[in-house]
Amino acid sequence: MFDFTPDGDLPQSELYRQLVAAADALTADEPDPVANMANVAALLAEFLPQLNWAGFYRLVGSELVLGPFIGRPACIRIPLGQGVCGTAASTGKTQLVEDVHAFPGHIACDAASRSELVVPVMRGGQAVAVIDLDSPQLARFDAGDAAGIEALARMLADRI
Ligand code: SME
Repeated sequence: MFDFTPDGDLPQSELYRQLVAAADALTADEPDPVANMANVAALLAEFLPQLNWAGFYRLVGSELVLGPFIGRPACIRIPLGQGVCGTAASTGKTQLVEDVHAFPGHIACDAASRSELVVPVMRGGQAVAVIDLDSPQLARFDAGDAAGIEALARMLADRI
């Protein structure tokens, strides 16, 4: 059994430090990318409150394909450049969306989602996947969340 639940009421930077350390410990000796993405999706859901979806899309050819996640069933394929995820993958830049209804082309997978954070996982200068977090709360994510998930994405780059 693994118990990586975070200590209660942590400052944001410490919460993300513990999340990245837990993800590092869970993935360090495991070469299977699906197993690693599955455990990291579970960790995201355990560590971060107010989420209704947390998981991965992988770049396959010229589109993103759904990977391991926690949440409601989601759209399976997203063309590069479309939606929040496709924009993160095509630009290689984190997308922090305070109100998904105000993001042109946002793809609604769960009608409850109100804000979203998508961070590309970069390898050799190319996005190989994105980490997608959705929240039913408006403006759930801030720059500290973006920095924390970017640290996670860097750590995972060679493990997924
Ligand atoms: N909202 C995303 C699609 C993926 S779901 O949120 C799980 C987007 O616009 O790319």
